[in-house]
Amino acid sequence: MSRKVSKAVFPVAGMGTRFLPATKSIPKEIMTLVDQPLIQYAIDEARAAGIEEFIFVTSRGKSALEDYFDGAPILEAALEKKGKTKLLEALRKSDMDSGAIAYVRQREALGLGHAVWCARRLIGDEPFAVLLPDDVITGEVPCLQQMVEAYQETGGSMVAAMEVPQEKTSSYGVLDIAEDHGSIVGVKGMVEKPAAEDAPSNLAVIGRYILSPNVLENLNAKKVGAGGEIQLTDAIDQEIGGDGVYGYRFRGQRFDCGSKDGYLQATVAFGLQREELREEFTEFLRDYVQMRDAAE
Ligand code: G1P
Repeated sequence: MSRKVSKAVFPVAGMGTRFLPATKSIPKEIMTLVDQPLIQYAIDEARAAGIEEFIFVTSRGKSALEDYFDGAPILEAALEKKGKTKLLEALRKSDMDSGAIAYVRQREALGLGHAVWCARRLIGDEPFAVLLPDDVITGEVPCLQQMVEAYQETGGSMVAAMEVPQEKTSSYGVLDIAEDHGSIVGVKGMVEKPAAEDAPSNLAVIGRYILSPNVLENLNAKKVGAGGEIQLTDAIDQEIGGDGVYGYRFRGQRFDCGSKDGYLQATVAFGLQREELREEFTEFLRDYVQMRDAAE
């Protein structure tokens, strides 16, 4: 099978309850880091990795996402008239060619595995990527691009991986390591959200995947796993005896933007990365922390 990865699935059907009331009327993926919605970071990363077709698995109340990727002729014309070329450039990042993006609905919240399965007909019989937009990853080489390169060597299925504190394993899919080659890890088992004492390692799955289409077939069984949900982890685990499963320790920093503290940390990190904001923002942070310390 060809190892070209040109399709990516973005599961964005979650209700984002951790960010209520904000997410009562806006999808979590539209929440911004500096001036870009979370979803834009995932799209940029996918594009850098050579993805050409973008499949969104959405749910009720997510239409703001579809509008975001639509053309905005009136806004563009207004900016053009005023000669605002920088803003126009920023705006065009969110443009998607007609036919490059597709939306399928997950009718019931049955788990991440089920969400990916909903895209099966659009994926067909080829390897595909999955990006969870909650996991925002910075790095010199975008994470999915690193994985696409490593995947050319391994084939099979590949998941991004990162060491987490043992007591946090219950929040992640966790890898049972067969062979550790540094950045690439051979996997002999995968467990979704194990209790710390049952975790086979502290190497956790982060939300970037390159998957064999066999995983979709495994998902046909709709097996219910951890938390009463159909888990993607379980369907990947079934591939271990087949074409193989690999963990990939990416180079970069990951922010869990599905949690408030991760989202705040990402806001600070991305703010500091912006040249036009860096100086004043650094000064503000320094002074603010000093002032707060003095007040305590
Ligand atoms: C999902 C996956 C889990 C993975 C995590 C990474 O869990 O099910 O295996 O470790 O994403 O962010 P969720 O965070 O959606 O509960």
